[in-house]
Amino acid sequence: MTQFCLLFVLGTFVARAFAADPALPFAMTWSSKSFGPDGPWQAVQIGIGTPAQQVALYPGGTFRSHLLTPRICSNVTLSPNACFASAGGLYAVESSTTALGTIIRFPAATDFTHGGLQVQGTQGIGTLDQMIIGTSDGLRNTITVPNVTIAVYDDIAAVYPSGSIKALQVGTFGLGYLGTANQSFTQPGQPTINGSLIPGYLQAANLTPSNSFGLQIGSVRSKIKGSLYFGGYDQTRICGDISTQQGAFAGIEPDDDGKKGLIDLLDIAINVIDGSSPFNTSTISNLLATGNSSIGPALSVSMLPEAPYLDLPKSSCDAIAAWLPVTYNADLGLYTWNTNDPRYTQIVSSPSVLSFVFRKGQSNTQNITINVPFMLLNLTLEAPLVTSTAPYFPCNAQSNGRYSLGRAFLQAAFVGANWNANNNQGVWWLAQAPGPNIGSQITVQTIRDQDASISPSSNDWAASWKGVLVPFSGKSASTATTSPSAATNTASSLNTTNSSNGLTQGAKAGIGAGIAVCGLGIISLCAFLYLRKYNRKNETPLRGISTARTTASSINGVGSPHEKYRDGGYGPAELNSHEPAELNSHEPKNSHQIQNDQVQLVYELGGDVYK
Ligand SMILES: *[C@@H]1O[C@H](CO)[C@@H](O)[C@H](O)[C@H]1NC(C)=O
Ligand SMILES: *[C@@H]1O[C@H](CO)[C@@H](O)[C@H](O)[C@H]1NC(C)=O
Ligand SMILES: *[C@@H]1O[C@H](CO)[C@@H](O)[C@H](O)[C@H]1NC(C)=O
Ligand SMILES: *[C@@H]1O[C@H](CO)[C@@H](O)[C@H](O)[C@H]1NC(C)=O
Ligand SMILES: *[C@@H]1O[C@H](CO)[C@@H](O)[C@H](O)[C@H]1NC(C)=O
Ligand SMILES: *[C@@H]1O[C@H](CO)[C@@H](O)[C@H](O)[C@H]1NC(C)=O
Ligand SMILES: *[C@@H]1O[C@H](CO)[C@@H](O)[C@H](O)[C@H]1NC(C)=O
Ligand SMILES: *[C@@H]1O[C@H](CO)[C@@H](O)[C@H](O)[C@H]1NC(C)=O
Ligand SMILES: *[C@@H]1O[C@H](CO)[C@@H](O)[C@H](O)[C@H]1NC(C)=O
Ligand SMILES: *[C@@H]1O[C@H](CO)[C@@H](O)[C@H](O)[C@H]1NC(C)=O
Repeated sequence: MTQFCLLFVLGTFVARAFAADPALPFAMTWSSKSFGPDGPWQAVQIGIGTPAQQVALYPGGTFRSHLLTPRICSNVTLSPNACFASAGGLYAVESSTTALGTIIRFPAATDFTHGGLQVQGTQGIGTLDQMIIGTSDGLRNTITVPNVTIAVYDDIAAVYPSGSIKALQVGTFGLGYLGTANQSFTQPGQPTINGSLIPGYLQAANLTPSNSFGLQIGSVRSKIKGSLYFGGYDQTRICGDISTQQGAFAGIEPDDDGKKGLIDLLDIAINVIDGSSPFNTSTISNLLATGNSSIGPALSVSMLPEAPYLDLPKSSCDAIAAWLPVTYNADLGLYTWNTNDPRYTQIVSSPSVLSFVFRKGQSNTQNITINVPFMLLNLTLEAPLVTSTAPYFPCNAQSNGRYSLGRAFLQAAFVGANWNANNNQGVWWLAQAPGPNIGSQITVQTIRDQDASISPSSNDWAASWKGVLVPFSGKSASTATTSPSAATNTASSLNTTNSSNGLTQGAKAGIGAGIAVCGLGIISLCAFLYLRKYNRKNETPLRGISTARTTASSINGVGSPHEKYRDGGYGPAELNSHEPAELNSHEPKNSHQIQNDQVQLVYELGGDVYK
């Protein structure tokens, strides 16, 4: 190929710091803006290059970050009247003095949503540049990570079932990879070029305790702030059981075969946690397999924060949609809410949830349920997907056999991974995340180098939605009577105490039913008071995570020195058009001094941060 083409070497390696100071988890800063065209979604804010260009990116995917360039805006096919791609900020590699754009130009995968969207266009160009991350961390403010491995896209768009091409609005921010701090690229006769993966770099530089992350995407409209930590997690983002899976988190570059980071989805149900049911029955289950005998006992899915929808078989989307006042939009493969149907408001404003039942801990004897309130599934289609905005239900019926759960699901779920656990085989976690009522305190917990487990908070999930999801008190707009009920697998009660751990399921169901029958007056009062408060606060922007670190328990040093060469990284797919790859057989080493200015440099993120 051309002289620009580098031979990419599969080898990556792990190094450990031997520093005495215990490192703390590092909090990413989120943009104060929200993004579409199928959100609103939250994104992390970074500065990239020198001088720093401000860009918001969806956290997701392994290895590289993916950035959109100003060339997308000058392409009239992709940007006919407006440049939607500039929503999150564009990155011009040629304007950065720290970019290595002219040295390293290996091609990158086109579809950085890993099948979550049908992304087409010209392959991305790989390069390296520095990233300035953070500001919500009260201790360190920002860290400059040199030579981060990225790919830039001049011509890329999502293709919808109708064949129409829609520009993407926001790139992605890579979340690391198994046992990897650096990705090495070589070309004949040239020195090796090392690109940093952010969580691995942070650990190797002794800036965080582990090569790991903890993430909740959160919700714009329900005012659940995004949360992303490296080397730890915010424990308040976890309610109840945690499911631990061995292996890598999904979204492997360059070409995810859809077989990594899977968890078995056993069923999808509709439950009403409190109040009367807006449906003509209280619990509706078996929605995953309804109308499709080929699904069997489980459907393996991956978690893709880089993608927007619930990517499920059309049969499952249709089975869910049959219970909802929605209309299938065949052009987009999505469902729009019928806002004139009285059930629409009843469903999206009450504690009615879409419950996802997963195999827990890869065991065939346990399961874990993640409840996603329909309020979070009342998302908005905007231009360029539609000409006038429309509320939609984000089940993607055109997933082309790639099943995954994207941001729509991850609004309500916590995911995290420790890339180095189990000697770099990795573990990842899935748990129920709370609603907005978790207080302003954060409880940052450390993930240590080999930690394979994390701990939940004692927060009660139902209480975290209290006052936001208003129990429905009327008769279902459909026929038949409603019976007050508490959903079977859900920790459900109207009790607003912090923890329901002491209550049996039976007691909780009893409380739920009792209050549903007796407490309608109280509920209406609560709803009234809440709505009044909400309306008054409507103009207030989202509040930022408190800069105060409340607790950071069990902060230990980096785990025992542990070095292991591994060939992780890109599979052979990327190499097909290149010379044969050789495994890079570097010895592991521990050379990673961090210059003071990199650690201490304070960078103001252009006002685009939470106030
Ligand atoms: C503009 O985008 C379209 C659609 O992706 C692509 O086919 C075309 O080559 C692009 N034009 C230029 C000049 O890059
Ligand atoms: C970034 O990579 C280039 C090419 O390998 C190297 O010359 C440069 O020193 C690196 N920068 C830092 C800060 O490590
Ligand atoms: C990249 O990493 C390899 C392996 O540790 C090392 O030998 C090489 O010197 C590094 N290159 C640069 C430019 O730092
Ligand atoms: C039924 O499920 C299978 C996957 O098990 C899928 O390939 C097929 O498209 C589904 N059928 C429909 C109509 O969605
Ligand atoms: C309940 O509602 C569903 C969907 O809205 C409908 O298909 C079903 O026939 C209804 N059942 C009864 C008993 O009314
Ligand atoms: C989940 O586990 C509960 C309790 O063991 C069981 O009753 C239920 O049937 C399971 N659900 C699924 C979908 O397997
Ligand atoms: C549903 O979404 C629309 C915007 O698409 C919004 O105007 C409406 O308030 C939302 N309804 C609820 C109950 O959140
Ligand atoms: C809420 O739960 C606590 C125990 O956690 C119990 O003491 C209290 O009576 C409950 N309140 C209501 C209203 O049920
Ligand atoms: C939750 O716990 C805090 C502190 O432990 C306490 O002040 C508060 O009253 C509790 N809330 C409820 C609803 O019990
Ligand atoms: C990663 O590469 C940089 C140079 O690009 C080098 O300074 C650093 O030591 C490497 N990090 C590790 C952990 O090998």
